[in-house]
Amino acid sequence: MMRIIRTKDYEDMSKKAANIIAAQIVLKPDSVLGLATGSTPIGTYKNLVEGYRNGDLDFSQVKSVNLDEYRGLPRENDQSYYYFMHDHLFRHVNINLENTHLPDGTEADSEKACMEYEAIIEAVGGQDLQLLGLGHNGHIGFNEPCEEFEKLTHCVNLTQSTIEANKRFFASADDVPKQAYTMGIGTIMKAKKILVVVSGADKAQIVKDAFFGPVTPQVPASILQMHPDVTVVADEAALSKVE
Ligand code: F6R
Repeated sequence: MMRIIRTKDYEDMSKKAANIIAAQIVLKPDSVLGLATGSTPIGTYKNLVEGYRNGDLDFSQVKSVNLDEYRGLPRENDQSYYYFMHDHLFRHVNINLENTHLPDGTEADSEKACMEYEAIIEAVGGQDLQLLGLGHNGHIGFNEPCEEFEKLTHCVNLTQSTIEANKRFFASADDVPKQAYTMGIGTIMKAKKILVVVSGADKAQIVKDAFFGPVTPQVPASILQMHPDVTVVADEAALSKVE
């Protein structure tokens, strides 16, 4: 089942998404949260940090597994997703860092990195709630449009356009990672609940295609229509092509 929650703007989206995650933590203090990076969830994390500072939220038993990580970037690189998660959430709350997990981008053996990550997700009991952003082409994690849904954590080659787009964050194009490790569609779909955050008019067409169009690996997020418990929190601009 898919619920769509319409919000006024990005701030309102961030508050409502954080409230849903907060409710999950209150109901089950040792929840396993599947987490995402990117620009969309930054406000959500900000609200969660505020909830912790107010004394409303306790992360001491929370566990986390992130969607993806660049292959070959050291953790201290400010473009790594490890760095992002510490910067936006982990170092501001009382989460036990031993309970936070991302694919190991420093592991050169990609088969090993991916198998180990699947084992970690299984060992913590799977995601109670998986947070997702939505790419302009319908990607979730680094699962790009393709012929067939990829099931498990795997290594992806970044497209030339992604490398070009990310170039500005690095000293040179050569320093941009060429590959990433990402949860597969199957890994994401196993989450008990899924929460998608989307904001902005530039996402309006993909919101329509992904959540109201046919289910196809050409629009990876469309598979979420088959999940039993999905909540999409989207602002008015992102929903402007729906209805
Ligand atoms: C992030 C991720 C990506 C982003 C997507 C949207 O961990 O896996 O799928 O969620 O690219 O990114 P933003 O939020 O920056 O528009």
